[in-house]
Amino acid sequence: MRQRICVLGLGYIGLPTAAVLATHGFEVIGVDVNPNVVNIINNGDIHIEEPGLRTLVQAAIKSGNLRAKPEPEEADVFIIAVPTPLRDRRADLSYVESATKSIAPHLEKGNLAILESTVPPKTTGKLVAPILEQSGLKAGKDFYLAHCPERVLPGNILKELIENDRVIGGVTPESARKAQEETSGVRPSFFGCLPLINVFR
Ligand SMILES: NC(=O)c1ccc[n+]([C@@H]2O[C@H](COP(=O)([O-])OP(=O)(O)OC[C@H]3O[C@@H](n4cnc5c(N)ncnc54)[C@H](O)[C@@H]3O)[C@@H](O)[C@H]2O)c1
Repeated sequence: MRQRICVLGLGYIGLPTAAVLATHGFEVIGVDVNPNVVNIINNGDIHIEEPGLRTLVQAAIKSGNLRAKPEPEEADVFIIAVPTPLRDRRADLSYVESATKSIAPHLEKGNLAILESTVPPKTTGKLVAPILEQSGLKAGKDFYLAHCPERVLPGNILKELIENDRVIGGVTPESARKAQEETSGVRPSFFGCLPLINVFR
């Protein structure tokens, strides 16, 4: 069955990720809290500058595989790519927190959630897992949960998204393996990377 992937945050990381996944045949729901961003993307346009991105987003929208919305819905995989700006030398995790809260009501057994935002160590286990577990499901047992920080540089994102090696940490070894398997058809570097298995609790 075709995988449905929900990408939260349609900025420099989330929008290219959503468009690449959609043009590789996944059904992708792109979620952004900014209604202007949602409208622009649904019209096949983009709100950020990145070489090749407009053409890719146009193709993704035209294929019917990508649609943008202001809130998430049921999916097999949730990818969190929201901002984590530094404030007084500390990462502001409020966007990660609110994005995670918006996923929790839609989480089902067997789903995978991947945090791709740049965050301090232990954010996945100490912030994201407890919020998702408010669904009544247990991280690593009922659903898979992993952290896979994005490493691309603006200006070359579409190439680096596919070719850069990635590091994946799962709340359990199965969560890391699931995150590795899930998009390895799109991002071949996932095959080559060695998941770092972190048990957070
Ligand atoms: N931009 C880069 O080159 C780069 C490279 C590596 C890692 N990162 C990391 O990736 C993460 C995302 O960065 P970015 O540059 O894509 O940010 P961005 O500011 O370009 O885009 C983030 C988007 O998320 C949306 N958003 C905020 N809260 C939301 C929520 N609760 N639900 C849904 N959408 C929400 C915003 O409206 C915005 O459109 C950050 O942690 C950043 O440090 C960025």
